[in-house]
Parts: sequence; structure tokens; C-alpha cells
Amino acid sequence: MERRSFLKIIAAGATIVAVNPSLIGGTLYAADGRMFKAYEKAQIVDAAGVPIKASSLEKEVTYIFNYPFNSTPCMLVNLPEPTEQEVSLKSEIGEEYLWKSGVGAKRTIVAYSAICAHQLTHPTPNDSFIKYVPKATPTMAYAKSGIIVCSSHLSAYDAGAGAKVLSGAALQPLAAVVLEVAADDTIWAVGVLGSDKFQDYFKAFKPELKEFYGGVAEAKTLVSISAKTVKLTEYSKEIIQY
Ligand code: FES
Repeated sequence: MERRSFLKIIAAGATIVAVNPSLIGGTLYAADGRMFKAYEKAQIVDAAGVPIKASSLEKEVTYIFNYPFNSTPCMLVNLPEPTEQEVSLKSEIGEEYLWKSGVGAKRTIVAYSAICAHQLTHPTPNDSFIKYVPKATPTMAYAKSGIIVCSSHLSAYDAGAGAKVLSGAALQPLAAVVLEVAADDTIWAVGVLGSDKFQDYFKAFKPELKEFYGGVAEAKTLVSISAKTVKLTEYSKEIIQY
């Protein structure tokens, strides 16, 4: 992907979408309040700014969008099967929280921070070492696929169970993005559940964020209104998966 397109995607927060968020009547598939932080509500839209319908998401494809900040990448996946429900999870310092389930008609749609909980590997326009690995694609990280793998050090996360750690060096799940599906089938990000690595990421990648966003303050701007979403294959030039 050319840098120009990357910048186009990250500028999603400035896009105006003609949909009234008050139409949302879906259940908030979050937790019981513990370790949940509400952010600006943002509609998931495609690169042209057109709202994406939950029923149109391709199965087992990793989509990338930035949320809750302009520079923090997240992944959106429509899984082949309904997720688990009411999954109890723990942060690396032992804080407990509850991930309710995926969203959509069949409870198959999930979103997580794409910043690895181990050492902050994340998708960039140049490459990505972290992605959802479809069921039919083998991985060295775990005995079965249909999971999220960070190929930097082979951490495996359970995509259908709140990104619980299955194996590898990560000490906690990926932070979950809490989604709502509205009555008109549009998808909205409304908050983040679990322990996130956003502040560590801002600190560790200060020079890169300055280069791409023109400054750290710009990188830390909250996404609002809408979040542009593209397939990982369009977002990163090279995808590495072991
Ligand atoms: S950074 Fe992801 S496994 Fe190490």
C-alpha cells in the first residue's frame, strides 16, 4: 500500500457519516463494567466512507481499522462459527473481566486491538506479523487454526473467546473492541474492554507516529464519527505468518 492510501485510512475520524447513531438498538456486548472504557462511538465504514454492513463482512478475513485513537490499529474478523459467551479473562496483573461474545446475527463478528500484548507488534503499511489465521491455514503457533497469531514470537490468541492467550509469550489477551450492530446492520465501535497497550505503544513508536501523523498529539486524537476499514492485505504490503 502506498503511504498516501494509508494516510487516507487514518484520516477516518474526520469523515461525516449521515447515519444517526441513536438508531442503534443492539445489545452492548461488553462486560459488567469492569475494565471497560467507553470511547467516541465510531461507525465502521469502507475506504470510500460507505458504512459496512455486518452481513457483508467476508468470513475469516482480517480487516484493519484504527480505534479508539487515530493511530491504534485494530482487527475486525467475521469468524466461521459463533463465539463463546461470557468468557472470564485476566489482565497480566490479575484484573478480571468478562468478555460477553461476538456480535451480528450469528455472534461471529469480533474486534480486537491489533497491538500484540507481548511486545507491541502491530500492522504497519510495510508489513504485518499479526493476523487472524483461517481454519484451513496451518500455523506454527498452535495446534489448531482459526485463531489470531502474532508471528513475532508466536503468541496465539483465541479469536472466539475474547482473545484469550492460547500459547506463546503474551501474558494477557488482546484488548477487545466493543462493537454494536445496529438495526440497519451497520457496525459501530463503542469502547475498549480489557487491558490495552496504547500508552506503551505511543511511547515505543514515537518517531514513527511523528512521521506518519505529523506529531504524537495527532496520533493520539480520538477517532469519532467513523473508522475506515480495509482488508489487512490492502493495509500492509507484506504479511508474515508462521
Ligand atoms: S510481539 Fe507478539 S508475540 Fe512477541
